Amino acid sequence: MSTYTTVENARVGILMGSASDWPTMKRASDTLTSFGIAHEANALSAHRNAEILRDYLADAESRGVELFICAAGGAAHLAGCVAAHTEKPVLGCPMQAWSLDGLDSLLSTVQMPKGIPVATFAIGGAGATNAAIFAAQMLAMGDDELKKAISDFRAKQASTVAPLE
Ligand code: RP5
Repeated sequence: MSTYTTVENARVGILMGSASDWPTMKRASDTLTSFGIAHEANALSAHRNAEILRDYLADAESRGVELFICAAGGAAHLAGCVAAHTEKPVLGCPMQAWSLDGLDSLLSTVQMPKGIPVATFAIGGAGATNAAIFAAQMLAMGDDELKKAISDFRAKQASTVAPLE
């Protein structure tokens, strides 16, 4: 039976449809860690672990998790399912998975019918990283220390673009 792990004071919950998504979603986790954002990560499939996913979401909300980053591949309905069960922001990461170079995952995640939004990011690693940065930016709206960490990150990143010789 599938279960889930929790982290004390987690502000973000990362969810994946499969442990096979972890090599990509570790980028989101590492990015959150770089900003000092407590988070937890779990592989819970929308179709294979539907009941435990619902239990996890109720539990996570009661513990104060503020937003969810959801990654899935193929008919990628995880983010939409999570969005159906929570009023917290849901950030979707389409995985490249096994076919169509991830276009299937992108469309499944981004094309939510009106009323239940999923903010969707790029396919694969870039999207995983950007979802975490975006999460940090949202959380920074009420957190000056985090705001400063994001400004520092931006400044450092700008300096990595070398001028042409
Ligand atoms: C989706 O199917 C997962 O999110 C993953 O991207 C893909 C393949 O899953 P596995 O067959 O590796 O478990 O449910």
